Amino acid sequence: MNIGIDKIGFYAPHYYVDMIKLAEARGIDPDKFTIGIGQDEMALAPVTQDAVTLAANAALRVIDEEDREKIDLVLFGTESGIDHSKSAAVYLHHLLGLNPYARAVELKQACYSATAGIQMAKGHIALNPESKVLVIGADIARYGLATPGESTQGAGAVAMVVSKDPKLLALENESTYFTNDIMDFWRPLYSEIAYVDGKFSNEQYIHFFNTVWEKYKEQTGRSLEDFSALCFHVPYTKMGLKALRTILDEATESGSERLKANYETSIQYNRKVGNIYTGSLYLSLLSLLEQNDRLEGGERIGLYSYGSGAVGEFFTGILQPNYQDRLYVHQHEELFNARKEVSIEEYEEIFEETLSADGSSTEFDRANDPAPVYLSGIEDHKRIYVNRIK
Ligand code: HMG
Repeated sequence: MNIGIDKIGFYAPHYYVDMIKLAEARGIDPDKFTIGIGQDEMALAPVTQDAVTLAANAALRVIDEEDREKIDLVLFGTESGIDHSKSAAVYLHHLLGLNPYARAVELKQACYSATAGIQMAKGHIALNPESKVLVIGADIARYGLATPGESTQGAGAVAMVVSKDPKLLALENESTYFTNDIMDFWRPLYSEIAYVDGKFSNEQYIHFFNTVWEKYKEQTGRSLEDFSALCFHVPYTKMGLKALRTILDEATESGSERLKANYETSIQYNRKVGNIYTGSLYLSLLSLLEQNDRLEGGERIGLYSYGSGAVGEFFTGILQPNYQDRLYVHQHEELFNARKEVSIEEYEEIFEETLSADGSSTEFDRANDPAPVYLSGIEDHKRIYVNRIK
């Protein structure tokens, strides 16, 4: 039985920052951001968007009545959790109007957790072939104003329906994974922003990639020539490229050109959104599927997932025949076109508007957020969510 990704939906908040203007405001050569880091725009979440609303806005774009009925497991990967106890998956389950006879849990391991969700979903479908699983990667990446990490922030969510006989990507069984306790990036419970050892995190991202790739080749006997494209976790678009370059000498000249061209296609959306942590790899996969004009059903895609702290995994999928018919290219074009650029002063103001630390009651101005699902305020320490299209 084939099991894999049947649908992918994506959502990013409606504000973005132009990276050239950000560089100028910080007194940095813009080429550092657009070439050295490889980012053009950065999605910015207003206070009315959190991991739950981003996830709901992504999922609402793709799920239909049959999905609502058949989804009996919601796996919500995030490192922007809103509660130490209640999972974001339960809020989401309600906002989407899913079948009540479902399990709903949140998963955490930095940017890796949506991949854990995908693999768990695969096991669930193997045991329950008629079920569907909703897997989410939703996050807001915050490092702080004028910090070295600032150019690698972002916000957004990817929602995936995993099922048997998937229309997009059938997941293969072979995968290699690696865990090691390191402090490259973390966010203690008391902090709104992440702590990061930037250079060390870059080294470890590549070290984990090389480790799981070597083990994958050993385990499967496959080589780079067996792949049409590789997609990477994309904290910033130059990062995946640096990892890819470490193995390109294993490919023929034409293979290397193909992988580089497909990598470029796979980062088009990430260049405009920035790091969305758990969803970044899947945003890159979506960009590859929606923006390429050469990949056909039957071709193999490799996926490298990395979550600081750290866990890395390399796994693969086979593109399904006519996968193009299952994509929402125009919807995503509209989403990008409808976004509003904010000035650097506006960005700083929006960045600093956070929920009160003591949970005191608040009501937000709903006119500022056109998203179908938004956070309208806090009452009695409860987040109040509104779904405009319900
Ligand atoms: P930095 O110190 O500002 O930048 O930090 P840099 O000096 O290393 O420069 C970056 C690149 O720009 C370099 O290229 C420069 O040469 C180039 P490289 O040598 O790396 O190829 N450059 C220029 N290029 C063209 N024209 C110029 C110019 N000037 C410089 N004028 C850093 C960069 C990424 C470290 C920082 O932004 C940071 O700490 N970001 C957050 C951490 C991060 O994203 N790490 C990635 C790996 S860890 C990961 O992926 C997990 C994560 O997603 C979290 C999770 O799992 O939850 C982060």
